[in-house]
Amino acid sequence: MNILGIESSCDETAAAVVRDGREILSNEIFSQADMHALYGGVVPEIASRNHITVISRLAGEAVRKAGLEKGDIDAIAVTAAPGLIGALLVGVNFAKGAALALGVPLIPVHHVRGHIAANYLAFPELEPPFLCLAISGGNTAIVDVRGYTDMSIIGATHDDAAGECFDKAARVLGLPYPGGLPLQNLAEGGDDRAFPLPHAKIDGHPYDMSFSGLKTAVINVIHNAQQKGETLDRAGLAASFQRAVSETLVPRTMDAARALGYDTVVVAGGVAANKRIRADFEAACRAENKRLFVPPLKLCGDNGAMIACQGYYEYLSGVTAGQELNAYATMDIDKAVF
Ligand code: KG4
Repeated sequence: MNILGIESSCDETAAAVVRDGREILSNEIFSQADMHALYGGVVPEIASRNHITVISRLAGEAVRKAGLEKGDIDAIAVTAAPGLIGALLVGVNFAKGAALALGVPLIPVHHVRGHIAANYLAFPELEPPFLCLAISGGNTAIVDVRGYTDMSIIGATHDDAAGECFDKAARVLGLPYPGGLPLQNLAEGGDDRAFPLPHAKIDGHPYDMSFSGLKTAVINVIHNAQQKGETLDRAGLAASFQRAVSETLVPRTMDAARALGYDTVVVAGGVAANKRIRADFEAACRAENKRLFVPPLKLCGDNGAMIACQGYYEYLSGVTAGQELNAYATMDIDKAVF
């Protein structure tokens, strides 16, 4: 079954063709990051307007590069939640038109389920159940993945997502948007104990997280140095920040895996590209003899292949939508009903 996956939830327009859920035939991504960098973050209207200008061309390219004709597409999968509403609507509307024109099923996909599915594309042997940490620009959650379409949230952030926190910390450090990779690069060689930064805990919710205090602490360190006219150890601050984020994410995920009896840990989403977090998970999983799956860098960020992959499993479980399909800015991963 050839599924065309469409993704437009934020600032990447993406279209891909995946065969039988696991084999990537094409994976076209148009990143608008440069256009938003000027403003230090994603401007929703600019995102929507750019999606609408490139999405048809990108989908056509995805079919062509897959070596297929339009008539070979068996279904259209599309991110319908969560994300920027105007941006999502572009993808959903395009997918509806394509499904109608081709006479094939339309499959709505939850964006974060897609991030988790990126691992199925990279690792043929991976199957649920497992514990997953989903860390992206808009979402941060520890998810009990019982089946391809059966999952529940064990813990989540109470405020900023991990990626959002990286982007905001990077911004005050004077780094370009999106800030995750530049901050990681700045942290290379920095002393990760240079600055004591907070590791917030939520009383009574051992798997939940909070990043807003960490973000404020980074801002305060920078302002204090500016006020005193001191030269800031920027590399040390970036390294200390990464340590604080990793020490928030990794132990909670490992605790949850132990509590639920999972021997497989999966990491997903844009922030899964982070070297420090990957290294800390590798060490933690090695120490506890757990299997660890983290997607290759090219599948960590937003892409259409992950949507087509998850779309395949949604379709197998009976999920399709009609022409009345809407998009939703927020939606829990365990209540993905369209
Ligand atoms: O998954 P993604 O592409 O989009 C969402 O679904 O939100 O994630 C984007 C996020 C951004 O916040 C970006 O700064 C972060 O992933 N990111 C990183 C790295 N590469 C991307 N964060 C930390 N370290 C990285 N190497």
